[in-house]
Parts: sequence; structure tokens; C-alpha cells
Amino acid sequence: MNLTRYEKEMLDGKHGPVLQKAMELLVGVGDCFEAEHLIPVSSALLACSEPVSIGKAGTKYIKDMAAGGARFVIPVLTDVACLDMWRWQEMGFGEEIYQAQKGLSDAIAQMGGITCNTCTPYYLGHIPRSGEHLAWGESSAVVYVNSVIGARTNNEAGFTALAAGLTGKTPAYGMHLDQNRFGNIKIEITTPLNGETDYGALGTFAGKIAQDDVPVFSGIPESATHHELLSLCAAVATSGTVAHMHVVGITPEAPTEKAAIGGAAIGSADMHEFGAKELDETRTSLSAANPEQIDLIIFGCPHLSIEQVKATACLLNGRKLKSGVDMWLLVPHVVKKYAEDMGYDTIIESAGAKLVSNTCPTIMPADHLQNQGYRHVATNSAKLIYYIEPTQNVRCYFGESAELVERFTENKNIEIT
Ligand code: F3S
Repeated sequence: MNLTRYEKEMLDGKHGPVLQKAMELLVGVGDCFEAEHLIPVSSALLACSEPVSIGKAGTKYIKDMAAGGARFVIPVLTDVACLDMWRWQEMGFGEEIYQAQKGLSDAIAQMGGITCNTCTPYYLGHIPRSGEHLAWGESSAVVYVNSVIGARTNNEAGFTALAAGLTGKTPAYGMHLDQNRFGNIKIEITTPLNGETDYGALGTFAGKIAQDDVPVFSGIPESATHHELLSLCAAVATSGTVAHMHVVGITPEAPTEKAAIGGAAIGSADMHEFGAKELDETRTSLSAANPEQIDLIIFGCPHLSIEQVKATACLLNGRKLKSGVDMWLLVPHVVKKYAEDMGYDTIIESAGAKLVSNTCPTIMPADHLQNQGYRHVATNSAKLIYYIEPTQNVRCYFGESAELVERFTENKNIEIT
């Protein structure tokens, strides 16, 4: 790989062992993918921001780095934490895991990181511009910024994003290069899509086919909302390892199908239809639980925007969760503060639901939901279902938020204005 003089100095250890290790990792990854050089990145999103997945060794590595004076040279954001740092006790977490999360977050903050702990940092103002190179992890955010915004990032592992944060560099391969961003399979939508769950089902279907290809979606109406597109992004990166996709007529690199595929032709073997039958089959495949048995409803995968919190508060206004059913709304903590200012939290908590900050059951300690007595979870997120069924040992039911609120709440005539 061709390195600049300063990059070579970092690799040779002239600027200290932390930067040397970071460069060794970046150059090693770059060599694997035959990158010719490194490129500057303007921000990093760390998916190594919670102690459950990186363990004691990973946590110690980051804490030692912070104690040794390491500092980030670009804005570094953090993905979700393994618990809600404000409600951890009432949610059944112990002191040990709280301290582990706190120690890790403190170390990242000491290095200059912004511990926003969310998979939707763009709701907090961290919005890249089109064409900007990034080193982001967290699969839904990666597809979203690549596809809907037109920025450029690979789906970084936690420690490669950390290395990018320390050096400001990443190897130039994959989604950073024009030639890898063109679509190479096509999904033709021939059925109406209604709401975020239909988009989640479409993403689940397409991700299984695409794996690490770049799908081109044709037939999605221009009226598709930002939240519906995000639901598609999250699901397509879950059943497959998709990092980038195109929606013809909507996403910035796909004004036309021809532009999305770079002028090349897509063969008939790579063209797939998503019609009423595929929609129905995919939705059914996502619901293993009997809706009569639901004991927890989770919205907010990916984390909710303030508009989604407001919409859920409107659905819950004047209603109360049925006995034996809890509800969590997963949000960035900043969105929770916003919801408090707007009074939405009063409506939500009066209905018996909880705003849960900066975390996600996917990376809570294994079986935490089981240990808290939950067995059957209803959600509007295809991504959440994919991850929590194995890690939290629960069965899930897939439904649109309005349907779930209607089904699992009762009208108590307690409307709050
Ligand atoms: Fe976010 Fe967790 Fe879903 S990280 S995208 S809430 S699986």
C-alpha cells in the first residue's frame, strides 16, 4: 500500500505505540482488500462502545489507551450501550454491568469521543454530506448514510473504526470506490407497500438474495418516507450483509436505473420480483410468536426520531397497556429529553410504556429479557426480530405500530392534552 510520509511514521512507531497499532490494523485490512492507499475520513461511528460484545479484554484495551493519553483526531460517535444509563436499576441490570459500561463510555469520552450511544446519530445532528468518506460501523446506519445520504463508508468493525478515529484514515476499498457502488441485482416491487413493516419485510427478502451485493429497488413510490427507507436499510443489512443499495428515483446515486447500475446490464438471474406473495410469505416468516402470548412490545429499532415518538404518543393517548404487557420505546437520550420538553413522555408513561435511552436488547447481556420474565416480544422491526430471538431467547411477533397499540392497549379515556 502506498503511504504518505506521516502515515509511514505512524506505522513505524514514531508517533507512539497507540498510533502504530492503529496503523498496523488499517494497513493489514487494506492489504487484505488490496487497497492502494489510505483516505481521510471525516467521522467514525464505533460499534465497540459496549462491554458485552468486546468483553473485558476489549474494554481494558480502550481504557488503557485513554489512560495513556490517546486522543481522537476526528469526530467519533458511539453506537448503542448495553443498558439505559438512567433506568438500569428499574430495568433489572446489576451494578457490575453498569460500571463496566460507564467505565468504557468514560474512557471513550476521555479520548474525545461523543458518547451519543445510538444507531441513529443523524437524529442528533451528525449528518454527513453526500460524497463524504466515513468510518462508520452499525449496519443500519451504514446502509442509510451510503444509500439515502450518498456518503461513503464500509461497515466498519469496532476496532477499525477506532483506528480511523485515532488516525483520521481508512483504507480505500469497498464502498469508498466508485466502481463498487453500482447496483448488481434488481428487486422489482409489484405490490403496494404500506408502512414501515412492509419496508422491513422487503429488506428482509432482498437481503437474503443480495448478501453482500448492491441491490437496486425499482417500483418504490416517491412518497416513501424517510422512516420507511430506514426500515428498508435496517432489514436489508440484517438478512444479508448489504452496505449500500439504490432506490430508483429516490436515492441520490439512482436518478435512473441506468445510473444506479453504471450502464452495465443486470442478467435475468439477478432480477427478482417482490409481489404480494413474497410480501405475505416474508411477513409470516417473521412472526414465530402467538400474538396472544405477547408480554413485551418494543419500538425503536433503529432508534426512534422525535416524529416517531410523537406518532406513538398520539396512538397511546388515552389508552393503557393491557395487564401483563410492557412496552419500550428505544430512543437516543437526546430524543428522550426532547420528548420530555414536548410532553410526549407524560402520555407515553401514563399509558404504562417506557422511553428507554441509548440501548438495544440486541447487545444487552444474553438472556436479559428472559431473566426479566419476557418470553414473547412484539415489534415493528424485522432487524430486531432477527437479532433478539437467538440472543435473548424470545419468540417474536411482527406488526405495524398502530396495530400493536390497538391490540395490546385498552381505552381508558385518560386523554392528556
Ligand atoms: Fe439499533 Fe439495536 Fe436495532 S443497534 S438498529 S436498535 S438492533
